[in-house]
Amino acid sequence: MTEPIRINRSTTRKPKPKDADLGFGQIFTDHMFLADFQEEKGWYDPRVEPYGPLSLDPATAVLHYAQAIFDGLKAFRGVDGKIRLFRPQKHVERMNNSARRLCIPPLDPELALQSLVSVVGVDRDWVPSTVGTSLYIRPTIIASEAFLGVRPAKSYIYFVILSPVGAYYPEGMAPVKILVVDKYVRAVDGGLGGAKTSGNYAASLFASDEAKHAGFTQVLWLDGVHRKYLDEVGTMNIMVKIGDEIITPPLTGTILPGVTRDSALALMRKWGLKVSERQVSIDEVVEAHGRGKLEEVWGTGTAAVISPVGELAYQGKKMVINGGKIGPLTQRLYDAIVAIQYGKAPDPDGWTLAI
Ligand SMILES: Cc1ncc(COP(=O)(O)O)c(C=O)c1O
Repeated sequence: MTEPIRINRSTTRKPKPKDADLGFGQIFTDHMFLADFQEEKGWYDPRVEPYGPLSLDPATAVLHYAQAIFDGLKAFRGVDGKIRLFRPQKHVERMNNSARRLCIPPLDPELALQSLVSVVGVDRDWVPSTVGTSLYIRPTIIASEAFLGVRPAKSYIYFVILSPVGAYYPEGMAPVKILVVDKYVRAVDGGLGGAKTSGNYAASLFASDEAKHAGFTQVLWLDGVHRKYLDEVGTMNIMVKIGDEIITPPLTGTILPGVTRDSALALMRKWGLKVSERQVSIDEVVEAHGRGKLEEVWGTGTAAVISPVGELAYQGKKMVINGGKIGPLTQRLYDAIVAIQYGKAPDPDGWTLAI
């Protein structure tokens, strides 16, 4: 698709909240990006429009068979006033991989990148400026054909919406309590775990709810076959430091290939640390904790960047990590990534795209 992006600006403007009042995903900006797909035409009519509801026939395929994918990334207003997207190309690549897995026609990567740049550009005044706040970007593709029947749809809608979000840690980074579940699983080998698709999140709700009622922030998923190897933690990738080795599960299709995961691994390799992408069993974690070698555990994800884990509970036993405090490597990773996002540190690998 080589069509230029049409821009239809809204004639009204919504009031903008104060940075201190921002939560997550509750407020949306004045505009959205849209494009349509039909079998005969491919992707067409890329445009920025005033934000508003979609009108869908009740038979629309996505409402019944969940043929949908999305991604999530952020734009930051730097200390120099510039607005930067963090690793947008990597997110576009992942979105197209998710699309292929769900039989959704991928977007031209250049158009997908331009969709993010154009809509954030139009709504640039919505990017909050307090450090820790950002503009969350949610590109999504849904099957829009109205029919009942299990097959890939013939038409799709791509849209990008934007939400100004508050600091994840308004009072500073805080360790969380995590429940290791072996009663439910999130994904199985050969399944959809590696795609960012709606059904994975629906599938996670029941276990997360149980964990929350039991006083935990999130669940740590074990693999769906043996219920033994660490997979992911809530909507984050997991990393554990045992002695001097930092271990994170490999990308074998059951976990989401996190962009923050990739960034943290790249930084730690650059720092000369021993990093392994390998399976790590919950028994190995328990055993390391028993020897006093489970030094740090953290999650990585766009929302929190780095989330220290202060406690893991497994089969009724609790493991307190680093005295429930933030570990030095956890803090170093958080500081390093945030500094690049806000333009406070050099960006030698070109992770940010200033718009
Ligand atoms: C299931 C799941 N795992 C991991 C992640 C972390 O990925 P990223 O670092 O790209 O945000 C996310 C968030 O996108 C997620 O939803």
